Amino acid sequence: MTSNKGFYTIRWLDEGVSMLDQRLLPEKEVYNVYDNYQGVAEAIRSMVIRGAPAIGVAAAMGAALSAEAIRTSSYDEFSAQMQVAFEALASTRPTAVNLFWAIERMRGLLSELEGGEIDDIRAALVAEALAIYAEDIEINRKMGNFGASLLNDGDTVLTHCNAGALATAGYGTALGVIRAAFESGKRISVLADETRPFLQGARLTAWELHKDGIPVTVITDNMAGSIMAKGEIQKIVVGADRIAANGDVANKIGTFSVAVLAWRHDIPFYVAAPLSTIDLSLSDGTMIPIEERSADEVTHIGDRRIVPDGVPVRNPAFDVTPNSLVTAIITEKGIAKAPYSKSLSRLFGD
Ligand code: MRU
Repeated sequence: MTSNKGFYTIRWLDEGVSMLDQRLLPEKEVYNVYDNYQGVAEAIRSMVIRGAPAIGVAAAMGAALSAEAIRTSSYDEFSAQMQVAFEALASTRPTAVNLFWAIERMRGLLSELEGGEIDDIRAALVAEALAIYAEDIEINRKMGNFGASLLNDGDTVLTHCNAGALATAGYGTALGVIRAAFESGKRISVLADETRPFLQGARLTAWELHKDGIPVTVITDNMAGSIMAKGEIQKIVVGADRIAANGDVANKIGTFSVAVLAWRHDIPFYVAAPLSTIDLSLSDGTMIPIEERSADEVTHIGDRRIVPDGVPVRNPAFDVTPNSLVTAIITEKGIAKAPYSKSLSRLFGD
């Protein structure tokens, strides 16, 4: 299924799982093919593929590769080897709950099929990974349609990081909302925060919106406040890596600062995320594990060192925006508003 203009984020091919190497964008468009789950796990860890929903799809496909490779007719042996793959995939990145959601879905299917023929189980696991992929695109389109109603003709929308086609199987969450509004004929312009240190906004959001012909301007992260103060930003839409039961939102580092600025300037701050990003098992955002990434991402830009050798740096990859700063959460089941402990759990009940 093609969902993005002239590129894909991830795809299941006869040779293995193919992924656009996002570390190389925008300079080079290179697709890497992985034929084993270890390769997929490393691709997730090293951010060849990134973004919460895309990581979930990749993990499901990695598990499917593992199922295809296991040669045994014993269910117990098959299951034991699958658990090793699940653990390896789960150990890649801690914050995006979609990773664990997808692995649990694959694990649940495996245990449901206990006692069946191994060939059938293998085929069912591959089909499940492909279903997770296809559903993700469909979910993003639904979310886009709900969210588009919140954007007005002529709005300039600020977004942080990349919550687009590149962060999902296709179409995107936050950028899906922007795409849907744009496709419906509204004149929308986007301001993309560059998103230090990994530069997902400058490299990825700008790349995919520009390909789609959606007007996008890149700003450095520290410009957002002054542009808001000038009244040049009407809405903010971001994605999420994990949302706690009370509506606290973990997303790319810097999102919290954007939310505080939005509150200061009375600008609506929307979060677009599928139900698979909502973790009702965590009562609030303090319980969300925050990934710490390598110092190199901060000490260097590309190959160039920008911090003196020997000076320590910090690199938490995500922050938590308290629910009080979130105007609404856009999902595939509708738009949730405060009090989120009620509105989010209601979405799961439907
Ligand atoms: O470290 P990344 O690039 O995986 O972080 C991605 C984000 O923070 C996105 O905003 C989030 O995963 C939502 S993607 C639809």
